[in-house]
Amino acid sequence: MKIPPLQIGNITIDTPVILAPMAGYTTPPFRDICRRLGSGLSFTEMVPAEGIRRQLPQTMVYLDSYSKEKPLGAHIYGSDPDVFAAAAEIVDSLGRFDLIDINCGCPVRKIAGKGAGVALMSEPEKIRSIVTKVKEATSLPVTVKTRIGITPNQCNISEVAQAIEEGGASALFLHARFATQRHGGLVDFELMKQIKSERSIPVIGNGGITGAFQADEMIKQTGVDGVMIGKGSIGNPWVFKEINCAWNNISYEAPSVAERMEIIAEHLRGLYEIMSIKNELRKHPNKHIERLACEAFRGHLGKYLYGVKGIKKLQGNLMQMDSVESVITAVGQLMHVQTQTQCV
Ligand SMILES: Cc1cc2nc3c(=O)[nH]c(=O)nc-3n(C[C@H](O)[C@H](O)[C@H](O)COP(=O)(O)O)c2cc1C
Repeated sequence: MKIPPLQIGNITIDTPVILAPMAGYTTPPFRDICRRLGSGLSFTEMVPAEGIRRQLPQTMVYLDSYSKEKPLGAHIYGSDPDVFAAAAEIVDSLGRFDLIDINCGCPVRKIAGKGAGVALMSEPEKIRSIVTKVKEATSLPVTVKTRIGITPNQCNISEVAQAIEEGGASALFLHARFATQRHGGLVDFELMKQIKSERSIPVIGNGGITGAFQADEMIKQTGVDGVMIGKGSIGNPWVFKEINCAWNNISYEAPSVAERMEIIAEHLRGLYEIMSIKNELRKHPNKHIERLACEAFRGHLGKYLYGVKGIKKLQGNLMQMDSVESVITAVGQLMHVQTQTQCV
């Protein structure tokens, strides 16, 4: 299936398979790996508008990126339209971003409890005002990421999507689950199809994609203009390559053990570097940042090594490992043993 490039405002996304924003996961090293493997667009982790407005150093580091990361969206949350606008102006002035994305889908109590994230879905007029004010404050395209509603009894995505488009957004990223489902469960293709047919801005579908088959099914069944991938990319950034290959009629070869190892090592070293930079900005830098980087990598590593014998033991041992290179060596040994076993 050939998928045309996607236009979001003045930004052209060559291949509309997009890395979803994921707090704690979509750090610059991971985004860069996904970009090289075929993700057409990525986003920062979720960044508070208020922290940006006040230019707090501990917030601003979440807007750090590598210069090669293009196109890149700043993914912002908050509840006050004027604070959003002030933050957008600052994000624009950094000159690093291609678009600004507004979070209207986060169900976490710390966020939604303060009227931000998915709580905004209960106030479509406020969303409209946020989009309009952010648009006035920046020349960058403005996009919104939402869910289909807070609960099945509060399914107002049609009204919300209308407010988003009329407010001036250039695209809608639609995670077709309710907030009560968090990040799992059934993805509602029917509603996705309805929203796509009701809107004239691009609608990008999100939820449950782990490979080319699901990406194609979502596009075929709903008509969305592109797909966004979250969990399916964790431990498998090659999912972008797989989908690009399918869309270009090229046969896809899964990564070799050596390639897997290279990506794991690059990812962990990059994460350590980024965490060290953030740490230095702290009033009291943590002396054990290398150990913390190893711990923070555990979620990724478990997924990278899914199905590899001995991963449970390695994960247990990781608790004791406090150096990045010792983790990389241990993973290398585990993968080596695995290949030897497979060859016997
Ligand atoms: C660990 C994790 C963190 C996430 N953080 C965010 C976030 O900060 N902002 C957001 O809009 N969505 C966030 N999400 C939701 C994803 O962007 C995506 O919408 C969701 O995982 C559904 O896509 P998937 O089924 O492909 O995973 C997060 C999801 C996960 C699993």
